[in-house]
Amino acid sequence: MSKSPEQLRVLVLGANGRLGRALTRIYAPRHEVIGWTRQQLNLTKTSAIPDLLRKAEFDLLINAAGLTSVDQCETDTEIARLTNLEAPHLMAKACAERGARFIHVSTDYVFAGDGDDDHLLTEDDTPAPLNEYGRTKLAGEQAVLAACPSALVARVSWLFGPDKKSFPDTVIEDALCKPVVLAVNDKWSCPTYSDDLAQWIETLFVQHPETSGIIHLCNTGHASWQEYGERALEIAEELGLPLQAKKVTGHSMHGFEKFKAIRPPFTAMSTARFTAITGVTPRHWEDAIRQHLVRQFGPPD
Ligand SMILES: NC(=O)c1ccc[n+]([C@@H]2O[C@H](COP(=O)([O-])OP(=O)(O)OC[C@H]3O[C@@H](n4cnc5c(N)ncnc54)[C@H](OP(=O)(O)O)[C@@H]3O)[C@@H](O)[C@H]2O)c1
Repeated sequence: MSKSPEQLRVLVLGANGRLGRALTRIYAPRHEVIGWTRQQLNLTKTSAIPDLLRKAEFDLLINAAGLTSVDQCETDTEIARLTNLEAPHLMAKACAERGARFIHVSTDYVFAGDGDDDHLLTEDDTPAPLNEYGRTKLAGEQAVLAACPSALVARVSWLFGPDKKSFPDTVIEDALCKPVVLAVNDKWSCPTYSDDLAQWIETLFVQHPETSGIIHLCNTGHASWQEYGERALEIAEELGLPLQAKKVTGHSMHGFEKFKAIRPPFTAMSTARFTAITGVTPRHWEDAIRQHLVRQFGPPD
């Protein structure tokens, strides 16, 4: 079979993660996709990374791997630094050396969370992370772009999707067996469907390969965790799931003893740059979560 000009050799790191699995699944029919997990490349074993990447064959490297537990980053600071900063820096250097494209995934947690309904955070807003996760991810962004100015850093937020359990699945699971379900009501962001995100990233690397720097990618609209959970329960109820809890009870994130790290309160991001480049407006998160939950819990097609 001859290779179409749009077909790329894509190496995905973090192929066992929520986003990495979505990327490998969605790109496989159209590209030559290689997925590497921790077994093939351990981000903390930084001395091995340059050689591993030098020997690999790819046109595009996408890094969806990272230490994503916000609370673990607070205590395992050296692992967080190696994983979220040093390893992406080495990936960027390797891509710059061979002239390969590099897309690195980052987070809305680089911001202090001082956006509001009238100001969705843009790529021009100044980041000011409140915790080690955000600090190491921001340092990773800066190191990536310094080593490989043609790289694209995609900041994403609150991922959900079919490949790994996430917040809406946990809320529904809890509501099926408990009369009361709790969620934070004073923290807002943009819930984002991993399948949509995979498609936006593909639009960028296929149709707009010259795009570099930072780009915000998330579904439109924003919610508190409580609102996000309530929407999931409303859809689950419409789908006939036998819920015990029909509402989500809100509580403040302040004084919530499970949280070791401080969380930024409002980090909903604007996707205006993405729309200006591609002409694509991400759909509302409520439409995306409906599709996800219907696929997960609805009747078979
Ligand atoms: N999930 C969200 O809501 C969210 C929000 C904002 C930004 N992001 C960003 O989006 C990206 C993808 O997130 P995700 O939700 O897909 O996270 P995830 O499910 O936690 O996946 C991260 C992957 O990184 C891998 N990893 C961790 N440490 C590693 C190491 N030392 N060596 C090799 N691999 C390692 C994990 O491997 P194992 O499977 O072996 O543990 C996992 O497969 C991350 O950059 C994250 O910062 C996510």
